[in-house]
Amino acid sequence: MHFHILTLFPEMVMSGLETSITGRAIKNGLLSIEAVNIRDYAFNKHNSVDDYPYGGGAGMLMQAEPVYLAYRSVEEQIAGRRAGGEEKKPRVVYLSPQGRTFSQEMAQELALEEDLVLLCGHYEGIDERVLEEIVTDYVSIGDYVLTGGELPAMVMVDAISRLVPGVLHNDVSAEFESFQDNLLEYPQYSRPEVWHDKQVPPVLLSGHHANIEKWRREQSVIRTAKRRPDLLEKAQLTEEEKRLAREVTGEEDA
Ligand code: ADE
Repeated sequence: MHFHILTLFPEMVMSGLETSITGRAIKNGLLSIEAVNIRDYAFNKHNSVDDYPYGGGAGMLMQAEPVYLAYRSVEEQIAGRRAGGEEKKPRVVYLSPQGRTFSQEMAQELALEEDLVLLCGHYEGIDERVLEEIVTDYVSIGDYVLTGGELPAMVMVDAISRLVPGVLHNDVSAEFESFQDNLLEYPQYSRPEVWHDKQVPPVLLSGHHANIEKWRREQSVIRTAKRRPDLLEKAQLTEEEKRLAREVTGEEDA
């Protein structure tokens, strides 16, 4: 999968994503991540990419042309790679608090794309005309306002990358971790067996796989009911599991 991040801060994005698991996946050729510096497409001698908003108001806006030219360079690069193949425009995500809230489901959908363009805004935003022309998806990472789209873009690349086959080495863990099936992950323990007087739950030492699976599933239900009861509505629970969840949330049995 190829990520193309349009940004004024390419070093920030690359230093974060070239580390750890995404970095390893880049080295292994499973992912490519390029940060395109929008400032390289400034069209005036001062190299500036922002200007005052028409109509007045606080702050500066990123101008349409540098953003457009940076996007076109990515589009041409993709067309070159796919030469002779399908002429499909890439999805272009604009990171903005005004977007749809990012979710595991959205990550799964986007992980199926061959190319993904992420546009990071700064200052007070970007001239609306270029957004209308190139953006296919508006995405927010939560209801709070950050100083720019770089951290949200990194969050998205991280969450999407780990779903690309081979990136985690252990595809089973991508499947079973928190939010899959709308249940949170069960608690986990490693050595030693006793730490600060706390004993690892005995069932995990029993070697009885069916009992371990049963215990883990119950723990997932209990934990979700305690910490994220809002998720339970969408989880597929047996009648017994529903009873267990009601016990935890203190709801009366119907
Ligand atoms: N840019 C600024 N704040 C943001 C947010 N919460 N999500 C996505 N992009 C943003």
